[in-house]
Amino acid sequence: MILCRLMTTLLFASATDDAADWAAPLKEGMPGLDFRVWPDIGDPADIDYALVWKPEPGLLASLPRLKAIFSLGAGVDALLADPTLPDDVPLVRMVDRGLTEGMTEWVCTHVLAWHRQTAAYREQQAARLWRPLPEKLARERRIGILGLGELGRDAARMLAALRFDVAGWSRTPKEIPGVLCLHGPEGLDALLARSELLVCLLPLTPATEGILNAELFAKLPRGAWLINAARGRHLVEADLLAAIRSGQIAGATLDVFTTEPLPADHPFWSDPRIVISPHVASPTLARSAAARVIEGIRRAEAGEALQHVVDRRRGY
Ligand code: NAP
Ligand code: GLV
Repeated sequence: MILCRLMTTLLFASATDDAADWAAPLKEGMPGLDFRVWPDIGDPADIDYALVWKPEPGLLASLPRLKAIFSLGAGVDALLADPTLPDDVPLVRMVDRGLTEGMTEWVCTHVLAWHRQTAAYREQQAARLWRPLPEKLARERRIGILGLGELGRDAARMLAALRFDVAGWSRTPKEIPGVLCLHGPEGLDALLARSELLVCLLPLTPATEGILNAELFAKLPRGAWLINAARGRHLVEADLLAAIRSGQIAGATLDVFTTEPLPADHPFWSDPRIVISPHVASPTLARSAAARVIEGIRRAEAGEALQHVVDRRRGY
């Protein structure tokens, strides 16, 4: 744990993260930290830094001395959707080893479950059916990953280490040993044409919203599987249901949804070809990520450049 001896005030605002989980490691790493939890913020002019997940729109704009905003999540789409977000305060997204490891575990779990047909064997078990299915080796399976950032490239590396034939796609060119790296619009078509399983780990931006749609599904090999661990609004949900009905897509593993929690009457719940998890692919863990926030505050106070500052023009 980094020790940072500063008198500074941090506002924590999240409806879903537990402030107590963060208070202990932050205060341990920053003796003297004045840790305030929304809505008990005291004088707004006291607040130097904010650590937030989906704060009330307008909250950040009401803090006149704010020096930086730290996002509790890797994705900052919800923060950027607040039209009052102060544009002169740096917005730092969460990049943390624990967050990356969690996502890679989740992606590998679901890729391996698809690869080794665990759902089909569970169904056969329920019917007391002893029937070996044709199996393949990982190196005979082509995986495509949309997004080769902090999360996508770690997942790509781990899947390649498991011997899958992995390709990834990003906006700008990349080089990852053992992974075919493609970029730009032509790169996307090439990646789709070879992906029996497609994993989405893109940020949600105006350029990526709705990218998982009928047109994209039609470019995948027939019977491909989709995994979305990024944001619900990457996916056009009606297009997925239609693609599954037609057999173009065999099924999907979804962690994120346009509306969360997923409404009880949503057709995804009852479709056996859709595997659902409740936005748990990789939660930010205070015991791992508090050190990232402390390091960010240390840098800001020392006048050093902040890391992982969001480029608001790009949207991530
Ligand atoms: P990141 O480091 O910013 O990486 C984003 C990647 O997407 C980069 O490779 C970027 O390309 C690529 N990209 C962005 N826009 C693109 C476009 N228009 N065309 C092609 N490629 C594009 O983000 P990250 O930390 O990996 O996180 C990705 C997302 O995962 C987050 O934004 C969040 O929505 C989601 N997430 C979900 C969970 C969960 O529990 N379900 C947890 C954490 C994060 P360049 O490198 O060329 O810029
Ligand atoms: C979670 O969804 C995140 O963006 O970290």
